[in-house]
Amino acid sequence: MSIVAIPEALQINTEQLPYVDNWGAPGLKFQLLMADVENAVFAVHIKFPPGIQLPPHHHTGAVHAYTLSGEWGYLEYPESWSKAGSYLYEPPGSAHTLKVADHNTEETSVFFVIHGAMLILDASGKVASVLDAASHIKDWAKALSEEGKPVPKIIVGGSAQHRQI
Ligand SMILES: [Fe+2]
Repeated sequence: MSIVAIPEALQINTEQLPYVDNWGAPGLKFQLLMADVENAVFAVHIKFPPGIQLPPHHHTGAVHAYTLSGEWGYLEYPESWSKAGSYLYEPPGSAHTLKVADHNTEETSVFFVIHGAMLILDASGKVASVLDAASHIKDWAKALSEEGKPVPKIIVGGSAQHRQI
C-alpha cells in the first residue's frame, strides 16, 4: 500500500507581499499570489490607477474576478462594469479590452484567478504576447528584482513525477 501525502492549505498575507509598481503600464501594481504551471492556472491581485486602458486580450481558459474597490470593466460590455463586491466570470474564448473608470479617485483593486493563457493582442488583432502561469513566475520575479525588491515565496504547483501508486 502506498502512502499519499495529504495536501496542506497554503496562505499568503497580501499586505506583506511586494508589488511590482509598473506592471506593463505606468502605475499598475501587481502581486502574483499563486502560479501552477501543470494545472495552467494563476492567481493575482492588481491595483489599477484611475482611467487606465490596457491592450485587448483573449483568454484560452476561464477567469474569475472579484473587485475589492474602485470601478472597471470591458469596453465590449459597457452595461456591466464591476464595482466593489462584484464577481465577474470570463468564459474561455472571451476577448475584451480592460478599462478603469476615468472618474475613479482611488485605485481599483481586483483579485483574479486566471486559467490557461492570456493572449495580448496588437492593434491589428494579432497575438503580441502570451501570458500564463509559467511566464508570470519568470516575469514577476524579474520585474521585482529590477525594482530592487526581494522576490518572496509564492504558492506554486509542481508535483508531477513518476511515482509508484
Ligand atoms: Fe479578461
